[in-house]
Amino acid sequence: MIDPLERLVWQLEDEPSLLEPDRLRERLAALDRLDAYLPDIPGAVPGAESNDGGLYRRARAVCGRLEAVNCELYEGIRCEIQRGERPETLLRWIDSSSVMDEAAGPINGPVSGMGYDYLDELVSGVFQFEEPGGGDVRREVEMVFYQPTPARHIFRLMGLTALDEADVLVDLGSGLGHVPLLVSACTGAGGIGIELEASYVGCARECAQRLNLNKVRFLEEDARVADLSIGTVFYLYSPFVGTILSDVLDRLRREAATRRIRICTYGPCSSVVADEPWLEAAAKPETGRIALFRSRD
Ligand SMILES: C[S@@+](CC[C@H](N)C(=O)[O-])C[C@H]1O[C@@H](n2cnc3c(N)ncnc32)[C@H](O)[C@@H]1O
Repeated sequence: MIDPLERLVWQLEDEPSLLEPDRLRERLAALDRLDAYLPDIPGAVPGAESNDGGLYRRARAVCGRLEAVNCELYEGIRCEIQRGERPETLLRWIDSSSVMDEAAGPINGPVSGMGYDYLDELVSGVFQFEEPGGGDVRREVEMVFYQPTPARHIFRLMGLTALDEADVLVDLGSGLGHVPLLVSACTGAGGIGIELEASYVGCARECAQRLNLNKVRFLEEDARVADLSIGTVFYLYSPFVGTILSDVLDRLRREAATRRIRICTYGPCSSVVADEPWLEAAAKPETGRIALFRSRD
């Protein structure tokens, strides 16, 4: 009987089209399958590496080839961003995955919901985040822990808001900064990330610097006191609940008295925001999707 790993390695060695840059999704799926067999540490499966007739070596070689193509793809996108160009290579993926399209079909996986997919791999490959360890902040019970917005929802946010260079997106509770970074890189809009956790802010700033994204700033501050005066679009991925959320919504209402603003939400906070009488929803908010609200005149 053929070992399942051997069958997989044969199959992947025999599929040169996987090395075409555009086949990222298939490459990531192949890497996932290989990962399930490969011990992280050489020798982790006792005797496996010595008695396998070179199978592990071949499997690692396939992984290396697939990863090299991905690295080259990510590096190409990074270069486009660093040169201040619209990252067409990245945006091509977005168009082809139709995440910005209302009518996205099952062929591209679920558009709504929390799961992560190959677009998240693509974005973290480009941004090269090194997630810092546990934070230093003493969190109040109403503050929510870090979890990134899945990339397809960020692209959908861009589609819904049609942000441009005149906009400034403020992410309230920005974590590692995916949202302002990606939005600024793809649309030319300014971005501000407000985040309590110093190590996350440091990581987001380093990324902005590496990519020459000079219209993005990250502030180590509490959203209850940070300056909101230049934001045109505010984003909340349910960063806090209860009285903190009411206080911040109250601050946004006061900002809206000075100019029209838009608010995008994701997660459980959407239903709370939908109850604010000074806001009008662009469409009925749906669970697991980005919701867009505009301040009333
Ligand atoms: C669910 S995560 C969202 C991260 C990011 N917005 C994203 O979508 O990828 C919530 C973040 O809000 C931060 N946070 C919680 N309370 C905060 C506050 N009062 N002021 C600023 N940031 C806060 C947390 O540290 C965490 O990083």
